[in-house]
Amino acid sequence: MQFSTIVLSTALSATVLASPAPRAAPDGILNIFSDGGCVRGTECSRDFLVRTTDGCTIIPPGCKSALRLITLNNDCSLIIYTDSACTSSSVITINNTSVGQCENPSSTLGVGSLKVICTV
Ligand SMILES: *[C@@H]1O[C@H](CO)[C@@H](O)[C@H](O)[C@H]1NC(C)=O
Ligand SMILES: *[C@@H]1O[C@H](CO)[C@@H](O)[C@H](O)[C@H]1NC(C)=O
Repeated sequence: MQFSTIVLSTALSATVLASPAPRAAPDGILNIFSDGGCVRGTECSRDFLVRTTDGCTIIPPGCKSALRLITLNNDCSLIIYTDSACTSSSVITINNTSVGQCENPSSTLGVGSLKVICTV
């Protein structure tokens, strides 16, 4: 009885370790483009998921110019930085009123990182 309990719990632990870490539901979804005008066909990252729990998130290399918000939870803001550590002063902040619009935060420096902050 005791032995079989130990075998079972060991098997369960192994299953947990083998599974990918659970991720929180996304707070927003964006398409990021390699050109400056959200031109169809130049998406370098489609359906890029953003989460408050991810903190500062690096935008994939080559996704340098523009982005379009697909969804963003109410009461959340997406803050975009030109550097890769969410520390640059050159930022834009957009909320759910920008869903569907093409954003060109920096035509010269490009976009480097982002984070989402929600008030609820
Ligand atoms: C955006 O968020 C505000 C604040 O929560 C909400 O009142 C509004 O209905 C939302 N708009 C859309 C388009 O989701
Ligand atoms: C959303 O962004 C618009 C444009 O920047 C701003 O006028 C508005 O106050 C913002 N709404 C919220 C709920 O932050």
